[in-house]
Amino acid sequence: MNFDHETEKQNSRQKIAEAADARTLEAVRVEYLGKKGKLTAMYANLAVLSKEQKPEEGKRINEFRNTVTQLIEEKKNEIAAKARQGSQKQLDVTIPGVAHPVGHAHILTQTIDDICSTFEQMGFAVQEGPEIETEFNNFTALNIPEDHPSRDGFDTFYLKEPDPTDKKVNLLLRSQTSPVQIRIMKEYKPPLAFVVPGKVYRPDAVDASHSFMFHQIEGLLVDKDVKFSDLKGLLTVFLKRLFGEKIKMRLRPHFFPFTEPSAEVDIACYICGGKGCSVCGRKGWLEIMGCGMVHPRVFKAVGYPKRKYTGLAFGLGVERMAMLKHGIHDIRLFYENDVRFLEQF
Ligand code: DAH
Repeated sequence: MNFDHETEKQNSRQKIAEAADARTLEAVRVEYLGKKGKLTAMYANLAVLSKEQKPEEGKRINEFRNTVTQLIEEKKNEIAAKARQGSQKQLDVTIPGVAHPVGHAHILTQTIDDICSTFEQMGFAVQEGPEIETEFNNFTALNIPEDHPSRDGFDTFYLKEPDPTDKKVNLLLRSQTSPVQIRIMKEYKPPLAFVVPGKVYRPDAVDASHSFMFHQIEGLLVDKDVKFSDLKGLLTVFLKRLFGEKIKMRLRPHFFPFTEPSAEVDIACYICGGKGCSVCGRKGWLEIMGCGMVHPRVFKAVGYPKRKYTGLAFGLGVERMAMLKHGIHDIRLFYENDVRFLEQF
């Protein structure tokens, strides 16, 4: 049997050209180059040819095999390139990605960080204390008398059990950050300058301006010869940094058991600028913190020598600061975790 090489070439060329995918191409390859394929048949057929015909036909078959092998190889590369292109098309880098919402620090955390870093820049260290305190640190050492109303169960959360290591020690949820003053002074000798951020607890009914838990920042500076004018200067710088250079402030005489003299700090109302409006209750001033000179009895309670040191102290409510600064009218918003509120800061 003689093969018509021209026709075979044409047929194979066409089949290879028409193969649109790798599987079809593989079928064509098996048809020609496979064990039972056309080429095997061609080589087998050589046996029946005459001596003269054999070399000539052998050459043509080899040529045919080379052509088919090459065409298949080329087609294979073409199909692979197309597949690569196709998969690239699916990955359109211009399509906007899936946005993952990015969180940020809570407004109260931001306010605490702002205030603490302002004091850090003035040389204060940041210190913390426990939320479960002793009655001694929270009241007695701070010169708060036994019959003071703030010691009442209506104003302080007491723990049912006393301190397990000393049954005579009554425990409570601290109602102010001032007890950390006591802890710091018991541990360090002056000069010292600290701010103390933290949670405090009072059994208040929750409303727009009250919560049973809120945050305070306490400040304490003790050294030889600290004066009231240092307190006023320090708070002036602090409030200008927090509320801007134009802020107006005043100190108003007040009473705190742990400071003498004591004062409350007011800033001119940011809404009406001092004229009087509903936010400041027609007063034109907003009360923002308490302060004073450390009472000698407090120094005595922590074992400092008499008359050797003087100190200034202050305490402020973080929620109140944030509410004043950002015009937030309801304290409950801080704790509800509504992202529509939180995202605004
Ligand atoms: N502990 C006070 C309170 O909770 C705030 C305070 C006032 C702290 C005056 C101070 C201070 O250190 O000097 O109301």
